[in-house]
Amino acid sequence: MAEYYFRFSLGQRLLHGLLVLSFLGLVATGMPLRYNQAGWAIWLSHTVGGFGVMGFFHRTFAVLLTLCFLLHLGQILYRFLVLREAGILWGPDSLMPQPNDFTEFYGHLKWFVGLGPRPAFGRFTYWEKFDYWAVFWGMAIIGTTGFMLWFPALFSAFVPGWIFNVALVIHGEEALLAAGFIFAIHFFNSHLRPEKFPMDLVIFTGRLSEQELKEERPAEYARLCGAGALTSVKTDPPPRWMKNLSWILGGLSIAIGLALFFLILFAVLTGGKE
Ligand code: HEM
Repeated sequence: MAEYYFRFSLGQRLLHGLLVLSFLGLVATGMPLRYNQAGWAIWLSHTVGGFGVMGFFHRTFAVLLTLCFLLHLGQILYRFLVLREAGILWGPDSLMPQPNDFTEFYGHLKWFVGLGPRPAFGRFTYWEKFDYWAVFWGMAIIGTTGFMLWFPALFSAFVPGWIFNVALVIHGEEALLAAGFIFAIHFFNSHLRPEKFPMDLVIFTGRLSEQELKEERPAEYARLCGAGALTSVKTDPPPRWMKNLSWILGGLSIAIGLALFFLILFAVLTGGKE
């Protein structure tokens, strides 16, 4: 039987699940507000009770996303300050961009055109770090502008009125960028690329097989072997119920994301009027 190793803890997987739920909810409720003259946006909003109700759901999902963001920050602070895991900020276990990411990016470009071997990636590849930071800063910008739109009276005590117009533009444009990035780039990078098509279950099961670890992350495999730490992350293969649930939840999320992506694309191409 194939050996399996843990890649993501239960807490990380649950947090990613909360992120998926809140993000899909925010896009599904935010885009009809933005393209409120498009036929599908009017139909969708009327189905839930009107644009006012859509706005209410948008704020509800915003609370979930904020919770997710705060939990993640809390997790990082706890690991750094209480567990004293300095490696969370720098080193092979960290999501911080580091010099090897640039050399691996260059090596990967060469590999794409057949001019070199595939770089020996570690625990996190350069594109996974890019995805992480794109979401991190994107959420900070969308969240800040979103709360300004939600509580204008509160924020108007500190900023002039014209800032709210700017906040609305930034919120809408950054939302478009975030949705486009997640539903096109992140989906492709993580799930739709040939090695993983149609879906990588690792974020749901938390485990990858020895073959995946060796082939896709050889530097991480060598590091774990060298440190004698391979057995500490060894686990059973994901049980059937877990794989089935992952297929259902992951498949549903990807399908909803792609449907939203095409609706947004349609709205952008038709000027949001059809
Ligand atoms: C903490 C996070 C967020 C908060 C507090 C927030 C809050 C808001 C508020 C108060 C509005 C105005 C709603 C109305 O007119 O009734 C709004 C609009 C909108 N939101 Fe968010 N939001 C957040 C995250 C997001 C995310 C993640 C997306 C999509 C990726 C998004 C997409 C939109 C869009 C497209 C609009 C319409 C903008 C326009 O009319 O041009 N929001 N948001």
